[in-house]
Amino acid sequence: MSVLSKVLLNGSDPRVSKKGSNLRLILAFTALTIVLTAVVIVAWEQVLRPYYYSWVARSFPGTENASIRYKFEQRGEHFFISMTVDLIVVSILLVLVDRQQRRLVEAHEKLAHSEKIATLGRVAAQVAHEVRNPLAGLLLYSEHLKGKIAGKVSDGEVELVDKIIHTVNNLTSTTEQILSYARPIKLAPRKVDLNSVVQDVVQLLSTEIAANRVETQLKLSSSPVQGMLDEASIRSAVLNLVLNAVQSMPNGGRLEISTGSDGEMLWLVITDTGTGMSPDQITKIFEPFSTTKSRGLGLGMPYAQKIIEHHGGEILVHSELKKGTQVRLELPVHIELPALTGVQQ
Ligand SMILES: Nc1ncnc2c1ncn2[C@@H]1O[C@H](COP(=O)(O)OP(=O)(O)OP(=O)(O)O)[C@@H](O)[C@H]1O
Ligand SMILES: [Mg+2]
Repeated sequence: MSVLSKVLLNGSDPRVSKKGSNLRLILAFTALTIVLTAVVIVAWEQVLRPYYYSWVARSFPGTENASIRYKFEQRGEHFFISMTVDLIVVSILLVLVDRQQRRLVEAHEKLAHSEKIATLGRVAAQVAHEVRNPLAGLLLYSEHLKGKIAGKVSDGEVELVDKIIHTVNNLTSTTEQILSYARPIKLAPRKVDLNSVVQDVVQLLSTEIAANRVETQLKLSSSPVQGMLDEASIRSAVLNLVLNAVQSMPNGGRLEISTGSDGEMLWLVITDTGTGMSPDQITKIFEPFSTTKSRGLGLGMPYAQKIIEHHGGEILVHSELKKGTQVRLELPVHIELPALTGVQQ
């Protein structure tokens, strides 16, 4: 059955030629039908036939009924064997077709979902692009205004202009984040040590780490965890992930970062004792603009995922509500060639 389902499911694999997979399917079903027929014949002969024959003999006794008995015995035998084999084969086929259909529906739903996300990203990027230049203008005017009114108006009024500048700066950084998420990633791989990336990121986030009273423990591999990586984008992905971990512990907690390599793959694990996530939340973390934070954009995780996937790697998230989260990055030591071009979304 599993061999058969493999053969059938291979039909949806574009790497397997349709002609080849159909032939294998026909051969598999022929073999199955032969085996089934043999099993049914044996079962019929060893178990059912004696009962059936004695019933026929009782129902049509005497020599005058010999030809009727013969017909009943032959037809009964043919009917039982062909019906049983047909029923079993058709049932197997139906189960396999049903499985295949469910897989197709799932694949279709996934595709529709990723198309929706891609459209959302494109629309957001377009809006961000449209407001970027007016924002730059606003910032310029506000700073100019601040210079003009300096010393001529009260401190309160200057503070108002400062608030405008602050708000415009916040909006600019939001639009920059959206644009950098939507922008195609161009990788410039070179030898990078994940240990030093972690140290840089922890250093960069030292203010947030101290503000949240997070105790940090680095369990970095004693030898360099080196691979061909695009340093800037990997640093940015790790920064987003460590920042999430720190933000999940507003009242303190423990942050542990470990690294390692087995020669083929590099790994980096970020563990926190923060708020954790429910299974439902976990399913949404890679969707752009899905956030539980009042000031979050919901782009950190999808951005990190995009970078890691462009490197041919993977992000694995394990989390338990109120217990904490573990995010594991796995990266190939040698980047795959298609990712080197890396301009597709
Ligand atoms: N380590 C973590 N612990 C708990 N929740 C997390 C963790 N990492 C991610 N999350 C959840 O996943 C959501 C999405 O994270 P993501 O980094 O994409 O966006 P964000 O942090 O909300 O905003 P930003 O765009 O500023 O990063 C978060 O709002 C949070 O609910
Ligand atoms: Mg984040």
